[in-house]
Amino acid sequence: MRLFLIKLKKIIFLPTNKLIYQQNNMRTNVVAGNWKMNKTIEEGIQLVKEIQQLLKTYPVTRSMESIKIILSPPFTLLKIISDLLKETPFINLAAQNCHSEEKGAFTGEISVGMIKSAGASYVIIGHSERRTYFNETDALLAKKIKVVLSNGLLPIYCCGEKLQERNAGVYFEVVKNQISEGLFHLPPGEFSKVVIAYEPVWAIGTGLNATPEQAEEMHMYIRSLIEEKYDIDVATDTSIIYGGSCNAKNARELFSNPDVDGGLIGGASLIAGDFVQIIHSA
Ligand code: PGA
Repeated sequence: MRLFLIKLKKIIFLPTNKLIYQQNNMRTNVVAGNWKMNKTIEEGIQLVKEIQQLLKTYPVTRSMESIKIILSPPFTLLKIISDLLKETPFINLAAQNCHSEEKGAFTGEISVGMIKSAGASYVIIGHSERRTYFNETDALLAKKIKVVLSNGLLPIYCCGEKLQERNAGVYFEVVKNQISEGLFHLPPGEFSKVVIAYEPVWAIGTGLNATPEQAEEMHMYIRSLIEEKYDIDVATDTSIIYGGSCNAKNARELFSNPDVDGGLIGGASLIAGDFVQIIHSA
């Protein structure tokens, strides 16, 4: 509860003009759909159209500025979906990965410049599947973060411990290393553009989500690391979202925690009705 209390303290003690400033800069809730390696062109178009339709008939009632909706399809769909999203510009687009270099002889890879020209504004960096299956290290991810930001894109940086690490009681340490090595090279102005996704690996695709208490405990810890490294304003303004078997049934409870600012959704983002319900839970 510490940072939550600090937030309240700020609201109580700051002069009125500062209070307005704080409110304007309050972090946004983010709901991002990570489609992973799913959806052909035709299937992707259909899913986006269904999501748009549902959001039209059942719109998010509060200001769109207080919630960021992001779709992260495979590279092959970025440009097509970017064109479809002109109709609903409040929905943002993310790539699932990028290369750490700007261009060159890297057969099969995709650069941030290509991603940007395809219409995306975010890039997911350091998803556990990239860390595990493609041996991505924190040092490499730090380079990717840099290239994303220097090209005017925004990173969604993933962190989270494996089951053995949770059982061994070293989960805070694991996440601390991932955050400090992947992100803490950034100056505060750059860091404040990052969305952090806490995704315990044991919860991803398993149907076993972290409990709201486990999620809140880690999110609060991550925020305290940010406060220690930067300051309380940067910590308060950083969106920290939860991922790992988050679905239409458990989203509201997970997101109701003071430090859980939305979710990175895998499986449930492939079903329009579920994804839209999760958006409404944030
Ligand atoms: P999941 O995946 O929601 O299917 O568990 C989340 C993610 O990997 O981003």
